Amino acid sequence: MPIHFAKGQDAGVPIWFVEAGELDARLPQWPQGTAAAIQMAQFAGKAGETLMVPGPDGRMVAVLFGLEAPQARNRDPFLVGKLVTTLPAGVYRFANASHDDRLAALAWLLASYRFTRYKAQRAELPQLEVPRGLDGAQLEEIAAGVFLARDLINTPANDMGPVALEAAAVQLANKYQAKLEVIRGKALLAQNLPLIHAVGRAGAQEPRLVDFIWGREDAPKVTLVGKGVCFDTGGLNIKPDAGMLIMKKDMGGAASALALASMLMQAGCDIRLRVLLPIVENAISSDAFRPGDIYPSRKGLSVEIGNTDAEGRLILADALALADEEAPQLLIDFATLTGAARVALGPDLPPFYTMDDSLAAQMAQFAIAVNDPVWRMPLWEPYDRLLDGKISDLNNISGGPFAGSITAALFLRRFVEKAKSYVHFDLYGWTPSARPARPEGGECQSVRMLYALLLAKYGAKGQIA
Ligand code: BES
Ligand code: MN
Ligand code: ZN
Repeated sequence: MPIHFAKGQDAGVPIWFVEAGELDARLPQWPQGTAAAIQMAQFAGKAGETLMVPGPDGRMVAVLFGLEAPQARNRDPFLVGKLVTTLPAGVYRFANASHDDRLAALAWLLASYRFTRYKAQRAELPQLEVPRGLDGAQLEEIAAGVFLARDLINTPANDMGPVALEAAAVQLANKYQAKLEVIRGKALLAQNLPLIHAVGRAGAQEPRLVDFIWGREDAPKVTLVGKGVCFDTGGLNIKPDAGMLIMKKDMGGAASALALASMLMQAGCDIRLRVLLPIVENAISSDAFRPGDIYPSRKGLSVEIGNTDAEGRLILADALALADEEAPQLLIDFATLTGAARVALGPDLPPFYTMDDSLAAQMAQFAIAVNDPVWRMPLWEPYDRLLDGKISDLNNISGGPFAGSITAALFLRRFVEKAKSYVHFDLYGWTPSARPARPEGGECQSVRMLYALLLAKYGAKGQIA
């Protein structure tokens, strides 16, 4: 799978970006025969439209690609990714500026992703020369992080159970010499992580917590927590068939945390990074946790189980409480937490929750800059009481059909106190139907935005800010 740009400069077939309506005026720029090719193909330069221009010997000498007007409301900054599925193998280059060359080049890489573990895919893909003035290596590292998350999410649970997901985390931690600890099975009880144990104990593979630390000890502490439910049957509150179908993706939060960690470590971001992944399978067995059970949590709050399908918030509660103990500068969690988030914002726009207004504003800015959209939703205090337990400190569900993503976020927040700043992402982690640079299947959401933000905020080692 080529996640690399083509070597060389100016040798590839030129791709000319055009907007509808400017074809005639620009004809002199293009090779001979372009006018005839435009006419023959009735090419109008509409957004996403591609024209391959043949030379005298029939070989392709140029490509014309239609872009939306820059001010178009529904402009897709990744539209250029479409070329990867349209063009034949070969080397190409941007002949003129697109609206945003950096995003267009990244879209090219992101569109080159193929999940090949179980079925061979088209091997030879078109390759792009790094557009002038761009840091190709950095774009490749970003793409590599995204591909890691997509691969982990796409791999089905029979090959991506707790053992395999732990192995993926260990491999990454080792690559960057991170300090790693894994707590498994009964040891979770001994180490006071009772909710992770309760949720995961029915799985054939033991529940576990992966914990790794990387970077300069006195650098600002940034901690990532990711929901690692390798498969979510719903537990005894079993999901209906349609709801269970893509629940291999319920470790998408852990995959996102690993993807972001890989980008930050590769870039040498000057932070003390910690990654905490509670990893379980929400399975059904005689040992499964039940509705009505009451468990202690790491923080000391007792939790009644209103629904075993609200398992993500339980394992995150213990991981967040542990993360919070060292009062990190910034605590971020990623989780495919609620169906309600999809109802509210759809699959492509993950909600985030934070009390930190300035962080929220920065995230909104970077989200647009790197085309990794996210949307703030409120930690609406008046709903917090819905989580109060009748015979326990709290219940894991709010009881009603409303505001499911908000109440899940409020549940998590009860376990965070000391972190200077905390943000929760309720991700979908999945593209239901392909769009340019976003193939159908597992998707890495919010991570490129955070990577850009964290690099801007904390810089990289050896770099003059
Ligand atoms: N993993 C699911 C959430 C989910 C479902 C994400 C579908 C993406 C698509 C989570 O564990 C879950 O089952 N949540 C329940 C919570 C409910 C029982 C309060 C939900 O959203 O229905
Ligand atoms: Mn669930
Ligand atoms: Zn789940």
